[in-house]
Amino acid sequence: MSVLICPVCGGMLENTGKSLVCGKSHSFDIARSGYVNLLLSKHIGKAIHGDNKLMVQSRRDFLDKGYYSPLCEAVCDEVVKNTKDCSIVLDAGCGEGYYTSAVRENLEDSDISVKLYGVDISKIAVEYAAKRDKSVRFAAASVFHLPVATGSCDVLLTMFAPYCGEEYNRVLKSGGIMIMAIPSESHLWELKKAIYDTPYKNEVKPYELDGFEHLSVRHVSFNMELPDNTDILSLFSMTPYYYKTGRTEQERLEALDSLTVQADFEILTYRKKGN
Ligand SMILES: C[S@@+](CC[C@H](N)C(=O)[O-])C[C@H]1O[C@@H](n2cnc3c(N)ncnc32)[C@H](O)[C@@H]1O
Ligand SMILES: [Zn+2]
Repeated sequence: MSVLICPVCGGMLENTGKSLVCGKSHSFDIARSGYVNLLLSKHIGKAIHGDNKLMVQSRRDFLDKGYYSPLCEAVCDEVVKNTKDCSIVLDAGCGEGYYTSAVRENLEDSDISVKLYGVDISKIAVEYAAKRDKSVRFAAASVFHLPVATGSCDVLLTMFAPYCGEEYNRVLKSGGIMIMAIPSESHLWELKKAIYDTPYKNEVKPYELDGFEHLSVRHVSFNMELPDNTDILSLFSMTPYYYKTGRTEQERLEALDSLTVQADFEILTYRKKGN
């Protein structure tokens, strides 16, 4: 039984093989790559857009080279520690599924059997994700309108994606776990220093979140040696700075032919409060 619900009427969706259909016959085709589009146009806000092809490809190229593998290992470890057998796990804002797929492999290696779902608003991203891993059900949808049944998930993973506390709280079971990865203070500091006249460290907000009990924080910090401009540009295109860079900064970026840069993250674990 799937935990996916119809974005139109909220009814449970059944898999007919080629599509997901609800009791009221709203039907959503499963794309050839394996993902299902549950995104309604009214849920695509003007200010909210998914990653475009360049950003998705840059992230895939960069992550597939293993640069963030220490983070990936730590996140997988945290998920394995907090996931029981027969759980439902949701990766909200899963991108092109690099971490989703690694989580699946790590759970399998630990003999923890789960149903894993990945949701992202970018169709290009979930298409890549579905091609990457056939054992995960990927859907195009917004984290602000998750097509996921209330109280259905044991574990929710949110990595560098928009945060919607209300929805994350709604879809989690009572006592469910949320694992979140965020950039920490010095993340990409040397890259910022090389590009901006006045670089700033990242602000790390207080850990408290409405509706959740904060359980733990794990700091993951390491240096990356980027040997060429291609990898530097890929890394830059994955970041929010990509949207806000002028001509001068762009030229400085293009002139960089190698860089040693810090990756600095925090993995925060929460438990849903109350019933
Ligand atoms: C920085 S990427 C992180 C992707 C992935 N979690 C990772 O760490 O590789 C942020 C992702 O959030 C997605 N996104 C942006 N707005 C969204 C929304 N409203 N609902 C779902 N996903 C969204 C983007 O398409 C993008 O894939
Ligand atoms: Zn329906």
